[in-house]
Amino acid sequence: MIALGSDHAGYEYKEKIKAMLQELKLSCKDFGTNSKDSTDYPDYAHNVAQAVSSGECDRGILVCGTGVGMAIVANKHKGIRAAVCESSTAARLSRQHNNANILTLGERITGWETAADIVRTFLSTPFDGGRHEQRVEKITKLTNL
Ligand code: RB5
Repeated sequence: MIALGSDHAGYEYKEKIKAMLQELKLSCKDFGTNSKDSTDYPDYAHNVAQAVSSGECDRGILVCGTGVGMAIVANKHKGIRAAVCESSTAARLSRQHNNANILTLGERITGWETAADIVRTFLSTPFDGGRHEQRVEKITKLTNL
């Protein structure tokens, strides 16, 4: 189950990603927002991060204007490794090396075709494990998050 969320600035991409996931036959839970009316990104980042942190959802995708605010909020939750990605290379490495469990995107930064490619890469790339395992484990050991 994939948790989806956006503020007003990421609303269009969130809706497009939802349609993409439906085509890929991947189930998702939409945490809003539900229009382009101005709203506050921390509310959506918090709800999506909680859903992933609790295990209710396996991964999350958050979209705002830049992806930055969403990542800042999501990364304050236990067990969350949120990655702002502007390229599919970053998305691939965020999975292979960091075992990122939330992808954040900036609708004002990244064109749709690239964003769609980033989403596909994020969802299809496994964690490499190996030497990266102990580094990822250290995140929780050192920060208790
Ligand atoms: C909204 O104007 C914008 O600040 C927000 O979407 C996001 O980019 C924050 O990081």
